[in-house]
Amino acid sequence: MAECMQEWPEPVVRVQALAESGLAAIPRCYVKPPCDRPAAHELVAEAAADAGDEDDAGGGHGAPPGDNRIQVVDLGGDEGGLTEAVAAACRDWGFFQVVNHGVRPELMRAAREAWRGFFRLPLPAKQRYSNSPRTYEGYGSRLGVEKNAILDWGDYYFLHLSPEAAKSPAMYWPDNPSICKEVSEEYGGEVVGVCERVMRLLSASLGLEETRFQEAFGGAECGACLRANYYPRCPQPDLTLGLSAHSDPGVLTVLLADDHVRGLQVRRRDGHWVTVQPLPDAFIVNVGDQIQILSNSMYKSVEHRVIVNAEEERISLALFYNPRGDIPVAPAPELVTPERPSLYPPMTFDEYRVYVRKNGPKGKAQLEALKGQSVTENCQ
Ligand code: OGA
Ligand code: NI
Repeated sequence: MAECMQEWPEPVVRVQALAESGLAAIPRCYVKPPCDRPAAHELVAEAAADAGDEDDAGGGHGAPPGDNRIQVVDLGGDEGGLTEAVAAACRDWGFFQVVNHGVRPELMRAAREAWRGFFRLPLPAKQRYSNSPRTYEGYGSRLGVEKNAILDWGDYYFLHLSPEAAKSPAMYWPDNPSICKEVSEEYGGEVVGVCERVMRLLSASLGLEETRFQEAFGGAECGACLRANYYPRCPQPDLTLGLSAHSDPGVLTVLLADDHVRGLQVRRRDGHWVTVQPLPDAFIVNVGDQIQILSNSMYKSVEHRVIVNAEEERISLALFYNPRGDIPVAPAPELVTPERPSLYPPMTFDEYRVYVRKNGPKGKAQLEALKGQSVTENCQ
């Protein structure tokens, strides 16, 4: 597929530089339309949690009645119960926390702190790694190339970790902190192991061979990308978002959230946004669009977004586990029946990614638009 985006449509402004300039009002290009802004009670809940005034792992203080907690899945638990626990979490929310996942807490902390170290460097040291919409690898401040788009209040660093052939070349890795590359590689390898485990459980939960999902996505050639997200303090958190509502385009996302500042919100089935309270040393896992496609919508990817706050910066590490880029993904034939016909045309992840990247975060509109259409209509 021809790449159609070479450069950003407007000069890139680092959100961190804006925040550090001490401005009292955010520029107009970050002001979301009223329907996309966080509700006042969501921002109040934020302050309460930061003050330690939190009595459970659910979050969502002040949210309308209903379930305010994503499930916690203990990967150290009994295998039989685990399959059902993961299935229930995916049916109810599409988001869950995993504990006893086997990744060392010291490695998790080292990875997060290495990236925090990068964002703390002076601006010129970071600008050397400025990214372009051609590959997104490096230091970035926007997703999508739509001119005059309303932007998000966050900067990020994006890299490919695997497979080996797709790995970001040395020039894209920061020299400083020098540990960034090594720690990210080790961390990525461990987290991919967690993804493989979750895939086996998901596959089995639909009555398929444990390895069925992994094979459909490319076996050992699946991709892994890392995005370190940095959300600076924001003088008007009620007007903007750190990351607009989106579903993740890949297979699974494993998020290591900030250890003390909340911000991730998940859209509950009734449409309300619920703020996640991460458990210590847990990962937050969510189902991406490719699982929705392969499972013929038995499991659905879920919209999520990030809110920001005036008091503290926030950092998170998102590991995206993706299909191999060049194999067509379509609903598994075992999950297609006359009553439940195939909902999606086959599409490779390389094609899907171009399609998604053109527009930036757009809720679930992009996956919905694929339904019942041909691949070529969507990719041109
Ligand atoms: C993402 C994402 C959530 C967060 O990077 O896709 O949803 O809390 N991040 O940073
Ligand atoms: Ni996401």
